[in-house]
Order: sequence, then structure tokens, then C-alpha cells
Amino acid sequence: MLTKVRDTAAGWLNNIVVGQIATWMPEYLTTPIEMLVRHRRLINAACAETGLSEVLLTAGRSGLSLEQMQDSVTLPQTSLRLLLLLGCSAKLLSRDPKSLRYHATKRLRGRVPSQLYRLYDASPAFLAESAKTGKNAGLQLLPGSGATLYERLAQYPELERIYSAELAHTNEGYRIPLVLEGIRRLQGQVSHVLDIGGNTGVTANAIVNHYPDLRVTVFDLPSVCAKGRAQLTNKSVGFVDGNLGADPVPTGADCVVLSAVLEITPTEQAHALMRRINDALPRGGSVIIVQSATNELETGPLLAASAALYFFNVCSPSPMSICVNDMRLLAADSGFASFEIHRPDDGPMALMIMRK
Ligand SMILES: C[S@@+](CC[C@H](N)C(=O)[O-])C[C@H]1O[C@@H](n2cnc3c(N)ncnc32)[C@H](O)[C@@H]1O
Repeated sequence: MLTKVRDTAAGWLNNIVVGQIATWMPEYLTTPIEMLVRHRRLINAACAETGLSEVLLTAGRSGLSLEQMQDSVTLPQTSLRLLLLLGCSAKLLSRDPKSLRYHATKRLRGRVPSQLYRLYDASPAFLAESAKTGKNAGLQLLPGSGATLYERLAQYPELERIYSAELAHTNEGYRIPLVLEGIRRLQGQVSHVLDIGGNTGVTANAIVNHYPDLRVTVFDLPSVCAKGRAQLTNKSVGFVDGNLGADPVPTGADCVVLSAVLEITPTEQAHALMRRINDALPRGGSVIIVQSATNELETGPLLAASAALYFFNVCSPSPMSICVNDMRLLAADSGFASFEIHRPDDGPMALMIMRK
């Protein structure tokens, strides 16, 4: 009987997860990676909000038996077993086949930004509205003033803190290695990097750790720079508060990094910014751009397209296109003499270098 209830509940929940995704974007059904990311987010949020994550994380390596968990978490047994099943299926938890104890894996998060996850996962429902209006309709899930996600986040300090931390986490795995590769390709021609939209300085820190002779200035919104200054004490990294849409580009750097910045910036602002960057750079200066990019035919890859959906639907009104041809035109339009692109493994992320 218990098994039947559990299996029915698991099937029901699974239908909701899969059904919602199917309603938003049917092609997700054919992309296990996209599905897994959303599946994990949902389950992580449920485990954190019910207190299950905390008891498992506190137990550490010794893990917990089902009975011990029943004693520590106030959940109906059916719910607990369902969450354990889902957690194990998404590899947030593991279960030892001999001792039958459950353990947290490193993917299990103690506290999750529910509001942020809701923004990621519920916003695709507004895609048609965004497409009709050319505005990021998904952002209405985060009420406030300002047309971009970043202006809104500044009005939610705790959410902004969590967002910056999440961003730093993904940045480490995806973009930082490409930024470092860009600097390697320019070696000898770079002494001072300006990281525009550099968040709390995670990329900057990686750059100075890798290339100790370099200096990095991070330029970001005041609320973000304040967090960076509090977290990072490396003397080779400095922070400058500013708004990339309005303020002058700081001078003195010979290389500008734009890591996941143009793709979230309104198109006209992105073009104006690139012209200002060109003016601020010395002769021989360069720009390293690391972000999602389409293939030449503009048919994928799917992960780049799905990132573009989020930028378009949530981050800003009519953000700069991620199509490679548009990036090439952007380089010429802003006065750069050369443009090169490197795309590791034909994946969704690209390293682009423009030279003045
Ligand atoms: C998608 S994040 C990328 C962060 C980091 N470069 C990375 O690769 O992870 C965009 C960054 O641009 C910053 N940003 C957004 N709008 C901005 C603006 N108007 N002026 C300055 N920085 C801005 C955000 O605060 C955020 O740190």
C-alpha cells in the first residue's frame, strides 16, 4: 500500500515537472541536460525548504538511516520517501546499498534562492508576451523599478547576494577558463585588465592568481562592487562603481573583459558601450568577450539558444544578439581592426577577441 502511494505520488510529481516543461518548451523533452537542470533545481528547493537538506548536510559523511530522518524531519513518511527518491534520482543524494543510509552529495544545497529559482523556472511562461512586445516580460515576476534584471536585483539585497554567489559558482566552471585562455593568447600585450560587469571579482581574482603580473579593475553596479570589496582583499584587484549604460569607461587598461555582459545588455547600449570601450583603449588594446554564441547557421546549439531565451525573456529589453555574425558586425561597427572566435568543442560558449 505504502509503495503504491509513494509510486503514485512520484508519478504525479513527475507529471507536473515534465508537464510544465512540456507546456513551456516541448523541445526540452528531447534534451536530458535541460530537463535535469530544472529537475534538480525543483528538488533542491523542496529538500531545502522542508529541512531535509540541512539534516543530511549536518550528518556529513556518516549519513542517516531512513528512521533517523523520520525522527529529525517533520514530514509525512510518504513525502519523505518521495523526496529521497527524487533526490537520489537527481544525484543530489546517494544511498549506500549495504548500510541503506542516505548521504548528501556535493550538489545538495543547504539554502536555495527560491525566488530566484522561481524566476528561472516560471519565466518561460512569458515568452510569447516578450516576443510580441520585444520586452523582457518574464521580469514581472520580480516587481520593482528599472528595465533590467540587475536594476531590479539591486532592490532585493538578499536576492542579489545569492544571485551574485550563484553567478560566481557557474562562472568558475564555464567562463573563467575561457577568459584565462583569452589572456594567454594575448600574452605580452596585456598588463591591466578592465572587467566590465565583473560581478564580485571572481574572474578578476582568477586572473591575478593565474597571471600575478597583471592588475584588474572590476567595473559593476555600486551594490555589486560593495559586495566584491567586502569579499576580496587581493591588492591587484580594484573596484569602480558605475553604470555601463551611462558612465564613462575607466581608462588606463589595455584589455577589456566582457564576460556574459553583452548578451544581457540592451542592443543599443551594447553598441554604444563597445564604441566607448574602443575610445578608452590604447592602440594595440584588445577586448576579450566570453559568452554564449550561436553557430554560423544560427540553428543552435540548444544550450546557447536556451540561454538566449533567458536573456531575452528576463534579463533586459531586446538584449544584444548572440549570433556570431552580429558580433562580427559589432566589432567592425565599434572600430576594431580584427575579430576572432574560438568555440571549444562546438559548444554553447565562445571566446571572442577584438583588437584595436
Ligand atoms: C550575467 S552577469 C556576468 C557576471 C560575470 N562577468 C560573469 O561572467 O559571471 C552580468 C554582470 O553585469 C552587471 N551589470 C548589469 N547591468 C549593469 C550596468 N548597467 N552597469 C554595470 N554593471 C552591470 C551585473 O551586476 C552582473 O555582475
